[in-house]
Amino acid sequence: MKPIQVGLFGIGTVGSGTFEVLKRNQEEIQRRAGRPIQITMVADLDVARAKSIVGSTVQVVSDARQIIANPEIDIVVELIGGYGIAKQLVLEAIDAGKHVVTANKALLAVHGTEIFAAAHKKGVMVAFEAAVAGGIPIIKALREGLTANRIQWLAGIINGTTNFILSEMRDKGLAFDDVLKQAQALGYAEADPTFDIEGVDAAHKATIMSAIAFGVPVQFDKAYVEGITQLESQDIRYAEQLGYRIKLLGISKRTELGIELRVHPCLVPAKRLIANVEGAMNAVMVQADAVGTTLYYGKGAGSEPTASAVIADLVDITRLHTVDPLNRVPHLAFQPDAMSDLPVLSMEQVVTSYYLRLRVADQAGVLAKVTGILATANISIDAVLQREAGEGESHTDLIILTHDCPEAKMNQAMAEMQQLSTVLAPITRIRKEELN
Ligand code: HSE
Repeated sequence: MKPIQVGLFGIGTVGSGTFEVLKRNQEEIQRRAGRPIQITMVADLDVARAKSIVGSTVQVVSDARQIIANPEIDIVVELIGGYGIAKQLVLEAIDAGKHVVTANKALLAVHGTEIFAAAHKKGVMVAFEAAVAGGIPIIKALREGLTANRIQWLAGIINGTTNFILSEMRDKGLAFDDVLKQAQALGYAEADPTFDIEGVDAAHKATIMSAIAFGVPVQFDKAYVEGITQLESQDIRYAEQLGYRIKLLGISKRTELGIELRVHPCLVPAKRLIANVEGAMNAVMVQADAVGTTLYYGKGAGSEPTASAVIADLVDITRLHTVDPLNRVPHLAFQPDAMSDLPVLSMEQVVTSYYLRLRVADQAGVLAKVTGILATANISIDAVLQREAGEGESHTDLIILTHDCPEAKMNQAMAEMQQLSTVLAPITRIRKEELN
């Protein structure tokens, strides 16, 4: 049978992994897909390097538009990244009737609505398993495996760089900057690591998962995004003493008022499986009404793990491209005319629990004043830890864990506590999720 023909836009880490795995597992993949899948064209600015990867049987060009113009190409794989030229080329490929596979989380989180609408109009598929959590088939699970369920929430470690940094800081007591350099050397970090450490990469992925889980449009601009750059190693230690680990989580929850969509560091009970996901590994927990809690774990980045997701999409498209577009799995799991308009909530509306660290004067009545403010705000305390003041020290650290309360209420209480003359430094606040 005639092979389905694929053109790659870009052959870096993921592209070369895709070429290699397709070649290595060709026979098995064909048995699954029903026909051969062949990369027949590659576009890359570094033509010589691309040729050294794919050899002489594949046509290498420097201009991706040559792939779009080739009527023999059925599917394009966009591995350029970002939302500049990548967006332009994806829209042009759709317009030319090509199916698209992309690993570009930023593009879909920001411009997904426009791209999916264009694909829907043209009757082509845009597949993006590789955009979220690399090799973990989380898109497939949310969109198809859990399709019977009303999904209630999801929470994921979806950025390997930050998880690696947090693990190394906790395990080895290393400083943030030193571990970031290691993460870059190991190739986990994005070209601009700001996207990793400031939580933007995780927010792109959380935005995409949230859209599929709840049938809402992708709305990256409404996500709350906080990274790990302000995190101090003393908080990692205090959290541990209290039975928690600090993880950068991407969270999306359905509430009566709307959808929570947020990325921030979070205390998670050390006994949860997800709290024990270490190094550059990813994991996503999903709570749904029929199945209960499920957990998906694996490599969230890297050449062959990401290639695994890209090829899964190529196989899906190969199986489905002759199917009437109306009978295919919708891009965002829900039919385009059945999307929900539930609003994304502001952070002030989010309800969660908190870890607070206050640097306080070691004097009589300080604890009473602090807890008095929380009591007046009707914020219930779950646990308190006070560091014994060191020899000659006139201050100490007061750590408070609270039960759930709206963030607006916590903001107000923190502002009042900050006014106390016995609170000597800006209060540290880290959110806490029990995930039960
Ligand atoms: N920079 C990303 C990470 C790569 O650290 O997880 C995968 O998207």
